[in-house]
Amino acid sequence: MNGVLHDIENRDDVERLVRAFYGRALTDPIIGWIFTDVAKLDLEAHVPDITAFWETILLGAQSYSGGAFAPHASLHRQVGLQPGHFERWLALWTATVDELFAGERASLAKAHAVRVARAFSSRLAAIPSPRDPGHSPGGLPITQHGSR
Ligand code: HEM
Ligand code: HEM
Repeated sequence: MNGVLHDIENRDDVERLVRAFYGRALTDPIIGWIFTDVAKLDLEAHVPDITAFWETILLGAQSYSGGAFAPHASLHRQVGLQPGHFERWLALWTATVDELFAGERASLAKAHAVRVARAFSSRLAAIPSPRDPGHSPGGLPITQHGSR
């Protein structure tokens, strides 16, 4: 893009940011598979929800009704979301914001993402996942062999 970047001003800007982010996230070698193979994300269905989320935070739109954590808890139970997945999500989000926008709302978009990612990550740590030691598929008890 030529010239000086402007700030996030309206819903179209938010949607452009969201679509650019998913352009990266869905093909990302570290987290892309979570969207495409595990969640089997329907992007066109998801874009209005996530746009409403950011519009609420950045533009005071009050178009998002909450409950953002629940789908992540469900993903965590399936694959075990790690802090590194959230770091990668944030790196892609920050790079996308910086590529397209500059200003107070752009800064808020980056700062709020960090807060939410931290909150999600620490809440998920309390929820069982397939990555836990001793996890057995299907919930069958694990037979202990050895010294005892
Ligand atoms: C303009 C001001 C703000 C708006 C409109 C806003 C909006 C939101 C929304 C809509 C959510 C998602 C809630 C859900 O889906 O359940 C959220 C989550 C969160 N916000 Fe904000 N926020 C604002 C300012 C802040 C500030 C100042 C902080 C901290 C200093 C903050 C920290 C968080 C955290 C930690 C979460 C994640 C909570 C969780 O699910 O564990 N927010 N915010
Ligand atoms: C490892 C990191 C993350 C992964 C893999 C991930 C993946 C997903 C997936 C697959 C969905 C569900 C889409 C659907 O089927 O409806 C979703 C929803 C959502 N995510 Fe994330 N996400 C991550 C981090 C974040 C962060 C850090 C935020 C906020 C800053 C966020 C905000 C949201 C919101 C607002 C929704 C929509 C929830 C709703 O339907 O109301 N996600 N995410």
